[in-house]
Amino acid sequence: MSQALALLGGRPVRTRPFASWPVFGKPEEKRVLRTLRSGKWGRLDGPEVAEFERRFAAMHGCKFGIAVVNGTVSLRIGLLAAGIRAEEEVIIPPYTFFSTGSAVVEAHAVPVFADIDLETFNLDPEAVEAAITPRTRAIIPVHFAGQPANMDAIMALARKHKLVVIEDAAHAHGASYRNRPAGSLGDLASFSFQSSKNLTAGEGGIITTNNDALARACRSIHNCGRVPGGLWYEHHVISGNYRLSEFQGAILNSQLDRLERQTRTRDRNGRYLAVRLARLPGVHPQERPAYCTRHSYHLFMLRVDAKEFGAPRSAVLKALQAEGIPCSGGYGFSLQYQPMFQNKAFGPFLPKASARLDYRKTRCPNSDLLCREQCIWLEQRLFLGSRADMDDITRAFEKVRENRARLCNGLKAKGAK
Ligand SMILES: Cc1ncc(COP(=O)(O)O)c(C=O)c1O
Repeated sequence: MSQALALLGGRPVRTRPFASWPVFGKPEEKRVLRTLRSGKWGRLDGPEVAEFERRFAAMHGCKFGIAVVNGTVSLRIGLLAAGIRAEEEVIIPPYTFFSTGSAVVEAHAVPVFADIDLETFNLDPEAVEAAITPRTRAIIPVHFAGQPANMDAIMALARKHKLVVIEDAAHAHGASYRNRPAGSLGDLASFSFQSSKNLTAGEGGIITTNNDALARACRSIHNCGRVPGGLWYEHHVISGNYRLSEFQGAILNSQLDRLERQTRTRDRNGRYLAVRLARLPGVHPQERPAYCTRHSYHLFMLRVDAKEFGAPRSAVLKALQAEGIPCSGGYGFSLQYQPMFQNKAFGPFLPKASARLDYRKTRCPNSDLLCREQCIWLEQRLFLGSRADMDDITRAFEKVRENRARLCNGLKAKGAK
């Protein structure tokens, strides 16, 4: 006889907390204090951001890194540097954060959605191909959750149609594709250092590239259009001040010292958990193709098929949370359903495209199914712990599955009261 669900009055599987985030200590304190005392607080005065750019780029297989204020601006700067022009089309997945789309609009370009693959949760190359038109200029594959997208297929399409590829690697610090680092696979890549990310300074972002001309363009755009050798008050292109501060650089340098070890731990734990959960009927962890040689597990994602599992996702989430497992359903709907897209609330952007666009007609059934019915997210911090933590998560899923009938009846009875 299995134990009663915590949601229905039983004892939870897990009462101890999981690993917390962010992880920091003396190294961060030392670097931040040194920066404070140096009086060199801006990126143009001190050594921290420059050192971070060099180290992060090298770790991600790139010659250049341009640190910026966040991972939204880095996408927009990448698009501008790549010469994407007003009203040209950029293909993006619908299963992603708002910024992947808003950055395109803010670059005066038109986001076009291509559905994701239902098993890898990343852009489906066939859907990308179907979305290509004579106006298409770029593709933004998102390495969602930290698993690289199918880059061989995407790069082949890009070569065939002469498209720029900007990786949205906001989740993919330290991930790799056929042993090549995420961030070095397209023409440019964008990372985020916002609080939840696997490498963080509270806020921040970086653009990585191996292309000299693109790197020069990004560096100029992130620094008010200045150019090497130019005068201080000499501005060559429309741009702004998107520089990172030395305090953020100091924290990022210390965090970077921790990244390799943390990534190895997350990948080991994620792989272990995926194998265990896949044994349960109706539980489908994000499929990991052989090309994903390292997953950074910014998120551990899985699908719950209600019919096979015997309970709907909403009930499973409630039951897991009561068992002491922090989890969520992630995005409630695909990106094209955001009011911004549905109402074409683009402000001064896209006046011409707006007239011909209708995002109410966009269909991405795989993304919709994940958002509305099936997906469950577990945060990266849970994967910084031990194998015993993974066993607790597995046990909680097993317990919910064993008690699926009681769970559904119990929730029905609660609802009836
Ligand atoms: C996939 C994706 N792209 C871009 C971003 C934007 O990054 P930021 O929050 O640093 O602007 C995020 C962040 O939250 C993200 O999840």
